[in-house]
Order: sequence, then structure tokens, then C-alpha cells
Amino acid sequence: MIKGVIFDLDGVIVHTDEMHYQAWKRIAERIGAEFNREINNRLRGVSRMESLDIILENTSSFSDLDKQRLADEKNAIYRRLLGSLTKNDVGGDVLEALRELRERRVKLAIGSSSKNAGFILKQIELTEYFDAISDGNNITRSKPDPEVFSKAAEYLGLAACECAVVEDAYAGIDAACAGGFYSIGIGDAAGYDRADMRISRITEVLKIV
Ligand code: G6P
Ligand code: MG
Repeated sequence: MIKGVIFDLDGVIVHTDEMHYQAWKRIAERIGAEFNREINNRLRGVSRMESLDIILENTSSFSDLDKQRLADEKNAIYRRLLGSLTKNDVGGDVLEALRELRERRVKLAIGSSSKNAGFILKQIELTEYFDAISDGNNITRSKPDPEVFSKAAEYLGLAACECAVVEDAYAGIDAACAGGFYSIGIGDAAGYDRADMRISRITEVLKIV
């Protein structure tokens, strides 16, 4: 029985995935690295530094210091974009799903690789909807490792088999499966056959509780 739902943040609760794309595009253009939507999809759920390594795959090597500077620069651009985010950027179906899940006494958590998760939730005024937040600040291994979801379940006081994970990233679905969670793919991950359930609207999560 599902007693808790763990939501990925970027690309599931709010479309900050587009802002990640815009920020990385600026960096890639400046250093002459190839970057497009397809490469961007590989960055979903992947930590900032690992994302940079993917973007730099076919470029000449950069020192660790240069890489740190590029990652910091990307984050500064991204944070500026996040500054314009408001609660109006949250879809009505997201609010409907969260409200109804709370009404049904289902515990809710965020499971995100992002170190900006707290800031984003504040911007979109959704912090109080979640009983727990597990993000890039409390993990040592990024998705597809299940750590971020295992921590979220632990914070909720639930076992993995009692929780569903909602993800737009293939890496996130892999992480959910590896951790023993019921996995739900939406957006890009709705095309991933490894997901236990594939949905096009977030309110379809209500079917499992
Ligand atoms: C999420 C996004 C990734 C992003 C990662 C780290 O998982 O899907 O695209 O790279 O968070 O985000 P951050 O905000 O810490 O740079
Ligand atoms: Mg995501």
C-alpha cells in the first residue's frame, strides 16, 4: 500500500528544467561545446558537476579549477533565472494533485539532486506542502543511485515499498527501481518502459493511493 509519494522537483513540480537548459546553453556556447535538447535530456536528475562532465565529453580537457568555475558560472546564471520564478509558474494540475494527496493523508516529500531545491520551493511557495525534503545538500551520490529517495523515505518514516517516486528523468526512474520504490514516469520519463507506471498528467498519481 502506498503511504507516501516522493516527487522529483525540476521538470515534475515546476519547469525549472527549461532554466537549467538555458543556463547550460549559455556556458556551452561560450566554450564552443555541442549542446542541444537531446544532450540536455541526459542531464535530468544528474548532479551539477556530472552534468558539466557530460557537456564537456567531446571537448579538450579542462582543469578541475576551470570546471569548478564553469559550474559556478552556470549556477549563477541559473539562480538569476530562478529569481523570476513565482507560484504562478506551478501548473494547476500540480496543485490539485498535491492538495488531494494531502487530503487523503498521503505523506509527501521532495527527492531532488538539486542544491537549489529549498530556494525553488520558497520561490513557488510550496514548501509547506511537503513533510520532508531530500535534495542535493543531503546526499553524496546522485541519481541513478537511490540515496536521495532512500533518505526521503527515511525522513517520512516509511519503507521504500510504501512509497511511490514521480520522475521525469531516466536516471530518476533507475534510482527509484534500484531503491525498491514504485516508479512513475512523467514528461521525458513517460517514454521509459522501466517505469512501473507512465503518466501524462500528474493528477494520474491519485490512481495509486
Ligand atoms: C536536478 C536536475 C538536474 C540538475 C541537478 C542539480 O536533478 O534535474 O538537471 O543538474 O538537479 O541541480 P543544481 O540546482 O544543484 O545545479
Ligand atoms: Mg527532474
